[in-house]
Amino acid sequence: MKTIIAPSILSADFARLADEIKKVTDAGAEYIHIDVMDGTFVPNITLGSPVVKCIRPTSKAVFDVHLMTEHPETHVESFAKAGADIITFHAEVARHANRITQQIHSLGCKAGIAINPSTSLAAVEELLEYVDMILVMTVNPGFGGQKFISSMLDKIRRLSKMLADKNLQRDIEVDGGINAETSKLVRDAGANVLVAGSAIYESADVATAIKNIRGE
Ligand code: DX5
Ligand code: ZN
Repeated sequence: MKTIIAPSILSADFARLADEIKKVTDAGAEYIHIDVMDGTFVPNITLGSPVVKCIRPTSKAVFDVHLMTEHPETHVESFAKAGADIITFHAEVARHANRITQQIHSLGCKAGIAINPSTSLAAVEELLEYVDMILVMTVNPGFGGQKFISSMLDKIRRLSKMLADKNLQRDIEVDGGINAETSKLVRDAGANVLVAGSAIYESADVATAIKNIRGE
């Protein structure tokens, strides 16, 4: 599957969001990864659907919303209406995950399920056929700029195999600590949607950073 680059605007300058999005899409990024944190599931608070609504008309990129919130079902509709294309929620906080995937699809979005580093693949096994993407967190969610947890490589490999055994083609997204070095490892393990915040936005040459992560 083609590698997709999803710069995380968590590391962007929020005062100039539209420009920061244009900068990475002009450099070839396909997705814009939007980290929504609620201050409860994770310590920080980032942004809400009104911000997504404001930036939507400025970009044609795929908006990849990563909900790091409790009660994701209460937020899905507002992000879909604001212009999200993909909505990913965490297995750890979803009491009726299958129903949430239906809710997301009924609003015309793709659905993703995310798991923290300490969450077993068993938490998503019964959902694989109902989602479009599985997000394997490669850091503990909550902050940009953390170190990649290398034991997640085996989890990505096992997930790839699980999908192949079930004859399912699904995107595998990774998020956290992805840079020119770790990107190769996760691509080799089977991930095809690569989120990167600091490695892209803190680089003086965004186009080269994106190429390196893509492995070109
Ligand atoms: C972490 C967020 C990530 C974060 C990644 O909780 O979900 O999307 O922005 O940042 P880097 O690439 O700097 O690890
Ligand atoms: Zn994220």
